[in-house]
Amino acid sequence: MEDKKTFYITTPIYYPSAKLHIGNTYTTVAADAVARFKRLTGYDVMFLTGSDEHGQKIQRIAEEKGVSEKAYVDEIVDTIKHLWEIMNISYDKYIRTTDSYHIESVKKIFNKLYEKGDIYKGSYEGWYCTPCESFWTETQLVDGKCPDCGRPVETAKEEAYFFKMSKYADKLIEYIETHPDFIQPESRKNEMINNFLKPGLQDLCVSRTSFNWGIPVEFDKGHVVYVWMDALSNYISALGYENSEENLMGKYWPCDVHLVGKDIIRFHTIYWPIMLMALDLPLPKQVFGHGWLLVDGGKMSKSKGNVVDPEILVKEFGADAVRYYLLHEIPFGSDGVFTNEKFINKTNSDLANDLGNLVSRTVAMVQKYFDSVIPAPVCKDVLDNELIDLALKTPKEVEKAIDEYKLPEALDNIWNLIKRANKYIDETMPWALAKEEDKKERLGTVLYNLSETIRFISVLLAPFLPETSEKINIKLNVQCASWCSLASFDGTKAGTKVEKGENLFPRIDVEKKLEELEKIREEQSKKAEKLNAPKMRPIKPEITIDDFDKLDLRLVKVLECEPVKKANKLLKFKVDLGGEVKQVISGIAKFYKPEELVGKYVIFVANLKPVKLRGELSEGMILSAAKEDDSELFVTTINGELPAGSEVR
Ligand code: MSP
Repeated sequence: MEDKKTFYITTPIYYPSAKLHIGNTYTTVAADAVARFKRLTGYDVMFLTGSDEHGQKIQRIAEEKGVSEKAYVDEIVDTIKHLWEIMNISYDKYIRTTDSYHIESVKKIFNKLYEKGDIYKGSYEGWYCTPCESFWTETQLVDGKCPDCGRPVETAKEEAYFFKMSKYADKLIEYIETHPDFIQPESRKNEMINNFLKPGLQDLCVSRTSFNWGIPVEFDKGHVVYVWMDALSNYISALGYENSEENLMGKYWPCDVHLVGKDIIRFHTIYWPIMLMALDLPLPKQVFGHGWLLVDGGKMSKSKGNVVDPEILVKEFGADAVRYYLLHEIPFGSDGVFTNEKFINKTNSDLANDLGNLVSRTVAMVQKYFDSVIPAPVCKDVLDNELIDLALKTPKEVEKAIDEYKLPEALDNIWNLIKRANKYIDETMPWALAKEEDKKERLGTVLYNLSETIRFISVLLAPFLPETSEKINIKLNVQCASWCSLASFDGTKAGTKVEKGENLFPRIDVEKKLEELEKIREEQSKKAEKLNAPKMRPIKPEITIDDFDKLDLRLVKVLECEPVKKANKLLKFKVDLGGEVKQVISGIAKFYKPEELVGKYVIFVANLKPVKLRGELSEGMILSAAKEDDSELFVTTINGELPAGSEVR
């Protein structure tokens, strides 16, 4: 028996640093549609996704939360897997970079490259963007900030291992130029060659010593493997490369396509191929860089409060409505926009009107005129040819579009057929045929043609809208949903019973739903604000008014202020307490220059027992308000005119 053709497709592995938003969902939904389509058309598919769990950022978040890194990532990975479940993502394998088999591979890859002389020890000095886990040279920074995310960068100098990227640069340029399909779309290829490869590649720093949440370098324990080298290796460690998992390298490598967002195309088309060249492995057949999903004309960000939560959309409208919008409305390869209004309008027009009505009208007519049984097509007419020809032509068009990763175009082709079928109803007017006794056979043929067209549509839609396709199959009792069955227009068996079933896409009241969504968003951002608000220290045990009365708080005027020698946290104040001068030592030098408070009226605890601080007498205390972590502090000053020595109560 001939071996099945294979197809290996990957998404990037996600950082478990925050909840995923609709933009992240995009890559995975697109990969899922392609993977499902390839399975449908007879391929043995390996669809890989996962999470990228090491690095300084994760270590910092876990430290802030006071939990172990592993406990932190475990929790987030559960939320990612849950999202893929509700979005109907049909991945074949979920890889975590904390999985032991992956760690085993990365250690071996690092050793192999070191033994080969492609990795050497040096020292690194430069700019590092922690959120992106990227090193940058001075010239790559934009306005002194990270060119990828625009956030501030930090200087970093440390002993590090380097990977000899420069050694392979010419070979890579030649590969890219002789393999026009390797980087897609075309514009991304030019960007990589002109902006990164032609100016000359620097050797890549591939180990860090300033944090330890990573895969240790086996022969030099203070070092962990740089996250991108760790992360990119997932594409082969998942296939059992240099580890104890089942070895699927022979079956699936080289990968057919790495689907990635445009922000990480550089890592996939420069670092990754060079790593593979150094390992003597073939390069992936293609890296496809898709565009970004924008909201309010820009990127989604927590601080702007414009993050679109895919879970809410799925709960409100179903996974298929979300999948349809992502796959159809974003030109694949370019940026696209998401707004709730556009999303609801599209759901109404394309899904409820075009598709929903076609199916419900056809089923209702079969029920009404033929007692729910699909009739035989015994009375053909030239009017049918256009519809049938289009149905037979559409699968090839869809396949062509998918092979070029033109996902919106694939859906456009299916919608042409849906619209043509709706037009066929208007042209043939089954309700008029039903009124004439001698037109029964013609009416039966029209309804057969519609049922068969809907079967075509259902098969074609399965990769994109899997739930809807299943619902249609139930309504029309579809027996044959294979790709091959689309070679001829006779897969529906006359005599099959249809059933009404549930409405595919109920019409949405746009205004009402928009208001509801806005309310949900407000509630969510309030919740997030609460969660992010600094934690307040618990209130101390209750006191009585008599306890409070023991304090003698007075208004004092600051006469002089100077630093305390050899104590860089302390300031020495002379204050006027209504004619009497007092000396106070206060640990606020980090927040005020000495001259800043001179002349100000501040609140003073006047009856505090005097103490000596660094040899200086302190006869009271100046009140101030401070953040819990002491990162900010303000002395309480008084506006208004009262004489020094006035009581504060
Ligand atoms: N961990 C790396 C990938 C390592 S792959 C070896 C990473 N992770 S990520 O979680 O930040 O991003 C995952 C994917 O989401 C990327 O393809 C990225 O481009 C994509 N997107 C993030 N925001 C996006 C939009 N707003 N729109 C579309 N895709 C976006 O990068």
